[in-house]
Amino acid sequence: MPLENKLLLENKIAIVVGGGQTPGETIGNGRATAILFAREGAKVAVADRLLSSAEETVKLIVAEGFEAFAYELDVRDEDGIKNLVSTVVQKWGRIDILHNNVGVSIAGQDASVEKITPEGFDNMVAINLRSMVLTSKHVLPHMREAGSGVIINISSLAAIKPFPLIGYKTTKAAVIALTEQLAAGNARYGIRANVILPGLMNTPMAVEGRVQSGKPRDEVIAERDRLVPLGRKMGSAWDVAHAAAFLASDKAGYITGISLPVDGGLSIV
Ligand SMILES: NC(=O)c1ccc[n+]([C@@H]2O[C@H](COP(=O)([O-])OP(=O)(O)OC[C@H]3O[C@@H](n4cnc5c(N)ncnc54)[C@H](O)[C@@H]3O)[C@@H](O)[C@H]2O)c1
Repeated sequence: MPLENKLLLENKIAIVVGGGQTPGETIGNGRATAILFAREGAKVAVADRLLSSAEETVKLIVAEGFEAFAYELDVRDEDGIKNLVSTVVQKWGRIDILHNNVGVSIAGQDASVEKITPEGFDNMVAINLRSMVLTSKHVLPHMREAGSGVIINISSLAAIKPFPLIGYKTTKAAVIALTEQLAAGNARYGIRANVILPGLMNTPMAVEGRVQSGKPRDEVIAERDRLVPLGRKMGSAWDVAHAAAFLASDKAGYITGISLPVDGGLSIV
């Protein structure tokens, strides 16, 4: 069958780490990506610290007639990561796609460089960066054995633009270096690794925290919308999900080591 007629991810096996979401009025990047991967033909393992949130994502996927399961995982726990990987391999035989979506800022005890504590900084590194190192560490042997695989890491435009919180800024920048290292070191095994840099997205993670700190929702949204060159509007989690589905697919088969902004042009102004 010609490639064009197939779903993007037909018969692929995917893990989405951080596939639940922060509660709120819109959909998060991880949940949207897990749903889109399933719609495009993948079976999806949805891992999250909040099992109920991962289960909600799975419910949405199963309701559409696709296959997924939820897995409780705190990405700071290497044994948990190891068990997730072996559970997926036992259940579905291989891992084609590893999508690393977990990322926190204030919720991870982040602060400005003047105010950061050693514990807060270590926690940011463990959640935003070490997690992606460790999931890669445990997935790569399976991908190498198969001679194929795709890793997608979620960084942020904060990696290349000014950002007030030092843990988020530095870990998201390091995620780019990590991805380049993964791409360079694994190309010979047929494994690709790419990183997405979301800009200002209208997701609960980005909006709810600001609303909770007292600003009216309309104002939070209008302020963020105004900054975006393309259409003066924030992106949605689906924009990130579509980029991820493309990068995960065979149509991106010659693309590795790239940093892809999904930002409505924010990175160029
Ligand atoms: N929304 C934006 O504007 C924006 C912009 C740039 C980058 N990003 C990046 O997008 C990613 C997340 O987006 P989202 O909308 O899905 O956020 P989200 O908060 O909805 O989803 C992240 C998920 O990660 C889970 N999580 C947090 N800590 C965890 C841990 N220790 N172990 C396991 N799971 C954990 C949360 O429970 C949540 O379900 C992050 O990497 C973030 O930095 C977002």
